[in-house]
Amino acid sequence: MKPVKEQAEAFIRQCYKELGKEDQTGMRIEEIRRSFDETGLYRHTGEELVHGAKMAWRNANKCIGRLFWDTLSVHDARDAVTEDDVYKALVEHLRTATNGGRIKPLITVFAPEKNGVQPVKLYNHQLIRYAGYEEDGTVTGDPHSVAFTRFCESLGWQGAGKDFDLLPLVFQVAGGEPVWRTVPDEVVREVRIRHPRIQGIEALGLKWYAVPAIADMDLEIGGIRYPAAPFNGWYMGTEIGARNLADEDRYNKLRDVALAAGIEAGSNASLWKDEALVILNQAVLHSFQEDGVSIVDHHTAAAQFRQFEKQEATEGRDVTGDWTWLIPPVSPATTHIFHETYDNTEKSPNFHYKSK
Ligand code: ARG
Repeated sequence: MKPVKEQAEAFIRQCYKELGKEDQTGMRIEEIRRSFDETGLYRHTGEELVHGAKMAWRNANKCIGRLFWDTLSVHDARDAVTEDDVYKALVEHLRTATNGGRIKPLITVFAPEKNGVQPVKLYNHQLIRYAGYEEDGTVTGDPHSVAFTRFCESLGWQGAGKDFDLLPLVFQVAGGEPVWRTVPDEVVREVRIRHPRIQGIEALGLKWYAVPAIADMDLEIGGIRYPAAPFNGWYMGTEIGARNLADEDRYNKLRDVALAAGIEAGSNASLWKDEALVILNQAVLHSFQEDGVSIVDHHTAAAQFRQFEKQEATEGRDVTGDWTWLIPPVSPATTHIFHETYDNTEKSPNFHYKSK
């Protein structure tokens, strides 16, 4: 890893070039050098933060939705310091991102780490997520949330114990104690899953939320780490229909879907799972579309990714990617991505999993 100073300079050069402000690069780098000398760190301007966050999305190797990187909205919440400030910013994030169903890609950036202290720490995996309760080996709700749900309970939160309970927002400011706050219902859009032709699907009582807002990744720009920077796009249907509701270690609904559709869950070779998968994914796309909530199918998303690849080539940038994540979990070989290879080198700015 290069020293922060050098990472800062490399970022400024590229950022200012992309913004058509090359003439100001030298001055800004001088200013940053002075800041390092005086304080040992530097602070991004609003413009650098906005463009840096967009670049991080553009460099997110796992993401198939990157065509829209330049449309990202950025909320600068670096001055949110109290619990009330943080709660307000998170609720505002969900309200703005939901946008009545026309989902807006949005990131809210809280203050970076300073002298080893994290001004804001988020404990949620996503801002909206369903609880999971484990009792003698069986789970009610989302098994992915079991550990976090227990943590919430240890803080005094109590859920209804149902399949789709909204978890609270859990965060900490200035190294204090973690606190939990309920997400107001009015900023949580949910979609009931039903099928355009198969009546029985709706009776399964499945639903999912509209806004996937990842809250547990670090945003890194020019050597500065923003440990609290929740971001969202809109869903690709398969994330819900082929993973969240289908994976055996998630909601595990393929057998119920098959049954509801009158398909015998018999031999592997009958491909009942595959049939159920297609039905469930049709239902997810249909339900979101009918409710006016943004969603993209995997064929369209792949076509958009191809356009992104062309656009980047035109700009003289090479596209890095993680093939294992870019291929959709349904019918991967019907997309061009399956037949390509991708260089998984990590560029900066970027999003990173936390090491702890
Ligand atoms: N796969 C995750 C989920 O199902 C969401 C990841 C981000 N997805 C997105 N479309 N931006 O909840």
